[in-house]
Amino acid sequence: MNTLDRLDIDRIAFIGRTYDEYRKIFDLSKSDLGSGHILDCPAGAASFAAEAHERGFQVTACDTLYDLPVKELASKGESDIKHIYEKVAEASHLYMWNYYKDRDDLISFRKRALNSFLADFPMGLRQGRYVKASLPNLPFPDGKFKLVISSHFLFLYGDRLDLDFHKACLRELVRVSSDEARIYPLQGLDAKPYLNMGAILSFLKHEGIRAKIVEAPFEFQRGSNKMMKLQKE
Ligand SMILES: C[S@@+](CC[C@H](N)C(=O)[O-])C[C@H]1O[C@@H](n2cnc3c(N)ncnc32)[C@H](O)[C@@H]1O
Repeated sequence: MNTLDRLDIDRIAFIGRTYDEYRKIFDLSKSDLGSGHILDCPAGAASFAAEAHERGFQVTACDTLYDLPVKELASKGESDIKHIYEKVAEASHLYMWNYYKDRDDLISFRKRALNSFLADFPMGLRQGRYVKASLPNLPFPDGKFKLVISSHFLFLYGDRLDLDFHKACLRELVRVSSDEARIYPLQGLDAKPYLNMGAILSFLKHEGIRAKIVEAPFEFQRGSNKMMKLQKE
């Protein structure tokens, strides 16, 4: 098998993480979870919204694919998990195998997340907890959410989403937050830091958005133990 210096996936994957993974990735405290409405954007097939709802927390999830029928989301989710399973083998050295024991363990998390998401989606859609939305334009008023979290989209797919798109998305995520937006990870599929971070930080400053890069208590892709916290000044 080839060894590659990047996770060579050919699409923005419709996959997702679990509540436990999100808690670590975003360093979510009980007070972060319980003190206001949270937006997960883009949420993909993450089960964070479903599991947080079961625990009584208020979470809205949005994604550009949430207008698809649940059957299509299921088949896309399954095929994207299979694609990741194959591709991770070629880039295994870019990852630290401790939270996940091995590739099968990693995939069992992704399947669990997908299944919980799919079980909750039809009811959650009717209740308005899942919303079809395409960045960089979100259908929410300014400051609707206390906390906005965004993982495994911006910076990670920096090889196919351009700098202007990143800027517009970050401004939009901050617009709909009343307190803070958190973004993770800050590096690409090659496990290297996002190349245009200097331009992003200058842009945020110019927009009156305070950006802090802080440690996240999670590292799977090597070096990915940092997140960005954004607040209006
Ligand atoms: C890798 S998933 C991230 C899922 C989740 N945040 C996590 O970390 O498990 C990326 C998601 O971005 C969604 N997406 C792609 N382009 C988008 C856009 N312009 N606006 C909103 N969602 C988008 C895809 O449909 C996919 O579900």
